[in-house]
Amino acid sequence: MEKLIAKIMQKKELSSLSKSFVEKILKEVISEKKDFFSELEKKNYNPKSKEYKFFVKEVRKRLRVVYGSFDEDKESVKKLIDEKKYDEALKKHVSTRERLPFYGEFLELISGKKIMDLGCGLNPLAFKKEYIENYLAIDIGQEVELVNRYFENEKIRGDAKLLDLSDKSVVRELVNVSANFDVCLMLKLVDTLESTTRDITDELLKMKCKKIISFPLQSIGGKKIAPQRNWFKKKAGKYDRKVIGNEEFFIVE
Ligand SMILES: C[S@@+](CC[C@H](N)C(=O)[O-])C[C@H]1O[C@@H](n2cnc3c(N)ncnc32)[C@H](O)[C@@H]1O
Repeated sequence: MEKLIAKIMQKKELSSLSKSFVEKILKEVISEKKDFFSELEKKNYNPKSKEYKFFVKEVRKRLRVVYGSFDEDKESVKKLIDEKKYDEALKKHVSTRERLPFYGEFLELISGKKIMDLGCGLNPLAFKKEYIENYLAIDIGQEVELVNRYFENEKIRGDAKLLDLSDKSVVRELVNVSANFDVCLMLKLVDTLESTTRDITDELLKMKCKKIISFPLQSIGGKKIAPQRNWFKKKAGKYDRKVIGNEEFFIVE
């Protein structure tokens, strides 16, 4: 199992994911393909077997979906950050690229300068130094290093941490520090976390500050539609809702 995880993580873009998260996704695939997995065990994890190849490919595919990804490698995004071409860097991540024309409107939702950003991607790069008193950014991918580089370059009081938010104990620790913040962003994250950890949203909604949670709108034949997401609305209780660009925002006090 350890070797299989190491093999999955050999891809450069997956190498900085946390091992426990990769293991969780692998176990998810194993539980769906039990027969296939016992064959693999019988074959002593032979890297040439079709079962071995299947697990490597399937887990990598799911990891890429969950964790979104850059169009280019980390080094080229790092270079853009060092050249202070932040808008160019924001274009390299699918979520921030989509939001780029709407950032002005989005930033109006935010009150206060003490910000938590869960599953941050490159979103912190859209915040100029004057809008930040303290920024805590969390992600499971290589964005963490890039966001820290941005904070250092701009001398921003911020910290990006590599943590697995599908782990309820990690989220509970963040709930404990959340009272020190004005707002907690969870942008295009919750669907993903629910798919690996059921009811994690209940824990996320316990953050003791204003919560801004977003979901992508689905585009069908050019028309944007908002899926009902009744499960989320029920959990959130009282909320304000706003659509900006290709994204639906829920504001929960
Ligand atoms: C669709 S992207 C959204 C990025 C950013 N919030 C935005 O909207 O610009 C989802 C982000 O969540 C992060 N993510 C996914 N699963 C995670 C987990 N279990 N723990 C921490 N971060 C996670 C991914 O690495 C990715 O950066």
